[in-house]
Amino acid sequence: MRRYKIAAIPADGIGTEVIEAGLEVLNTLAARDGGFALEVEHFPWSSDYYLQHGHYIPKGGLERLKQFDAIFFGAVGSQEVPDHISLWGLRLPIAQGFDQYANVRPARVLPGVKSPLHNGKDIDWVIIRENSEGEYAGHGGRAHKGLPIEVGTETAVFTRAGVERIHRFAFEQAMKRPRKQLTLVTKSNAQRFGMVMWDEIFAEVAKDYPEVKTNRELVDAVTTRMVLKPQTLDVIVATNLHADILSDLAAALSGSLGIGPTANLNPERDFPSMFEPIHGSAFDITGKGIANPTATFWTAALMLEHLGEAEEARRLMEAVEAVTASGLHTPDLGGTATTAQVTRAVCDYLQG
Ligand code: NAI
Ligand code: MG
Repeated sequence: MRRYKIAAIPADGIGTEVIEAGLEVLNTLAARDGGFALEVEHFPWSSDYYLQHGHYIPKGGLERLKQFDAIFFGAVGSQEVPDHISLWGLRLPIAQGFDQYANVRPARVLPGVKSPLHNGKDIDWVIIRENSEGEYAGHGGRAHKGLPIEVGTETAVFTRAGVERIHRFAFEQAMKRPRKQLTLVTKSNAQRFGMVMWDEIFAEVAKDYPEVKTNRELVDAVTTRMVLKPQTLDVIVATNLHADILSDLAAALSGSLGIGPTANLNPERDFPSMFEPIHGSAFDITGKGIANPTATFWTAALMLEHLGEAEEARRLMEAVEAVTASGLHTPDLGGTATTAQVTRAVCDYLQG
């Protein structure tokens, strides 16, 4: 029996609803197959926990997380805590502390799902987001607080090591895809230091991957290409901020934010990697039982792949796609199904 230790951190809002659904589907898959088992430990770290204890991650918390094979994360964000406190209190300490520098976000229109684009079926992308530095490096400050001359700086930090490793990772991903195409996204016309360095290092790394077809696009221009010519994109590599924005667009073009999955990878496996849906805690639908669990199911499949369970991941995606194809959709996809109904349907398919 292959056993994996999973740390579940559902955290806030619909995060708790979709992680519960995700674990139900994973456990059904494991029970049906019999070849692998998940030992899941729940961590109560959330905004409620923060309001009670004054911190999201208790002392020694990251050390405890290190013992796990993977982290299954919901979403963090609450109306009672400013977003920059919650994000920097929980998600970023894990992603940055565990050097999960490669954020991988596949996007495609699942069967039965309607894209807002007439040519949405052409979407088949993997967005690779630099996840450890750049605009989210946490460099900056405030001075003259509250005075008319107050100043705030937000400095993007790009290191040669950080840029080279994400480019190399992106080329490796492109090599695994049938089209073997990689688009570099920067803004090196207006930003002439870090962004130009991104372009230069990309060209250097490209020499090691002659089979990969490359092209370059400015971040503003690539948004129009995503909408107007989706078939011309395959793998996309971009900075932390740019890819954050592009991947929400990619999820919406694929039908809903409730579909897009994410893997935060430490490719060297020095630390556990973290798997989460792209979406946040969705205050507007929290507690209504109508969150789309599909993003979390797809995320669970990415986690299985990372654990070496490629066949199980394929089986899970087959079940998820059979259910989307059946038309059983939550309201974000125009349907009336609940989270529980979609989850049940995926479990039934797996058991069938
Ligand atoms: P959001 O992703 O929570 O919601 C945006 C819209 O998409 C809402 O209308 C919501 O109902 C809908 N939506 C999202 N996921 C859905 C799902 N699974 N099924 C159906 N509809 C879904 O983004 P928003 O509103 O900007 O942020 C809410 C909170 O979440 C904030 O505190 C924010 O900081 C946090 N957040 C956390 C993230 C994380 O933990 N990785 C990522 C994004 C936002
Ligand atoms: Mg985002």
